[in-house]
Amino acid sequence: MSPSPLITPPVRIRTLAAVALLGLLAVFLLPAAPADASAPLRQHAASRGKFVGAALAASPLANETAYRTIAATEFNQVTAENAMKWEATEPSQGQFTFGGADALVNFATQNDQQVHGHTLVWHSQTPGWVQGLGATAMRSAMQNHISQVVGRYANNAALVSWDVVNEVFDDNGNLRTSFWYNTLGQSYIADAFRAARAADPDARLCINDYNVEGVNAKSTAMYNLVQSLRQQGVPVDCVGFQGHLAIQYGFPAQVQQNMQRFADLGVQVRVTELDVRMTLPRDTAKDATQATYYRDVVNACLAVNACAGVTIWGFTDKYSWVPETFPGQGAALIYDESYQRKPAYTAVHDALAGGTSGDTTPPTTPGTPSASGVTAGSATLTWTASTDSGGSGLAGYNVYREQGATDPMLGQSGTNSITLTGLSAATQYQVYVRARDGAGNLSGNSATVTFTTSTGGGGGPCSATATVQTQWNNGYVVQPVTVANTGTSTSAGWTVTFTLPAGHSLTGSWNATLTTSGQTVTARSMGYNGTLAPGASTSFGFQAARPSGDTHTPSGYTCAAP
Ligand code: XIL
Repeated sequence: MSPSPLITPPVRIRTLAAVALLGLLAVFLLPAAPADASAPLRQHAASRGKFVGAALAASPLANETAYRTIAATEFNQVTAENAMKWEATEPSQGQFTFGGADALVNFATQNDQQVHGHTLVWHSQTPGWVQGLGATAMRSAMQNHISQVVGRYANNAALVSWDVVNEVFDDNGNLRTSFWYNTLGQSYIADAFRAARAADPDARLCINDYNVEGVNAKSTAMYNLVQSLRQQGVPVDCVGFQGHLAIQYGFPAQVQQNMQRFADLGVQVRVTELDVRMTLPRDTAKDATQATYYRDVVNACLAVNACAGVTIWGFTDKYSWVPETFPGQGAALIYDESYQRKPAYTAVHDALAGGTSGDTTPPTTPGTPSASGVTAGSATLTWTASTDSGGSGLAGYNVYREQGATDPMLGQSGTNSITLTGLSAATQYQVYVRARDGAGNLSGNSATVTFTTSTGGGGGPCSATATVQTQWNNGYVVQPVTVANTGTSTSAGWTVTFTLPAGHSLTGSWNATLTTSGQTVTARSMGYNGTLAPGASTSFGFQAARPSGDTHTPSGYTCAAP
């Protein structure tokens, strides 16, 4: 269906499309280069024909080199977190201030990034003088604001799109009864788009909102509005899904299908403000879940041609609107407060890199993890690293708990070691590791390590962590069984109990005295290794026989003192 003349794709966009087409041709004509697992996000995004962006805050952009370096290196699109909002650009009527906005646009120009203008008409962060105007004055103030702000960047090659209206719906999908709506009725929406098109005929004009990522009542109301505006010739070119997600509320339903239904209306779609918050404190399992949310949003955008890209609302937990807006929540971004990459970074990276390399060779299987430093809530695992020969490079490791059909991920690591946090006290964990490459291929499962966290609360006296060192058809060696004093006083001996699988029997032991009762084994400290200072550890080992072909190993290690 051809769009009405009023909504012809903007000229600048057509130019970009031509460039994208050339890029596409290049992909077919040139031999496929292996994706580089360490390449920045923007390089992978560009090779998929998408942008990956970040909202930038004025103060660290002006003052922090580390912030600027990541912003410039990793992203090919930026949005001003606050600097282009009405309160920043026209704090009093007719007095325009573009300091922060210009700084952002200049930064983007220097770093070959496209700018999304955010936002022209919103009920929030708009000065009181606007809110108090009568209908006629308010309409002309809106038109003047749009014409001045959009007009300032109309000939700037970096600024390619605008959020014309933001959050016009309430949480139920009714038009929000904001001062705009209450004073002007729903016509302010169409008027705003027309004023923006007049001020910059080339800019991509978007409507933006939250809780519209999946298919739901609010996104359906948005869909109906966009359809009806376009039928009336109102120049709506694009729909922005903010993407303020939270792991405790679940991933929205049918994100890709939702993007696609908007795309089928003829608009571009984009994720404009992605962040994935969690209830604090952070732990490795929450980080791993968060990473899957980032991955799934990026993959949805990659799967929809009309999705232009994904903008993250900030990039470092050092500067995020979440903690002050949602008390008790945070850690929503892809870098931590110290600018270290989180699993969410890797997830975005790998999703963008996936499918570009032609690499279908998984990394080698990692070595058996060994556990140390086991406490009531945490444990450190270390394993022999994998290697990757498929071309995309080793990207990291996923750590899973073995529980049956669907093993939950306990954490992700970029190195051959991880400290798992957020574990349950006095609980046995059987965990294994898989390596990941830059194309998203997963290795086989490593052998498992079994450890039991210590008792929480009053502070368990000790923990026991067992590693199967070697095994063969009808036997195995468990070594080391590491015993650590997790209490606050020096131990006067320790006792570790565990269970041998049915049909297994002990054939030897060292550094502890082992007795059996049925399949329950009790290992007691020797004279020389029973005294452990708080935090200190020692170990023992044993060998067992089992029926040929039986792959079970002992379980249920618990430690008590003495
Ligand atoms: C937020 C900023 O991140 C904060 O710094 C500011 O104090 C309030 O606004 N939806 C939007 C964004 O469209 O403009 C908001 O940004 C976050 C929610």
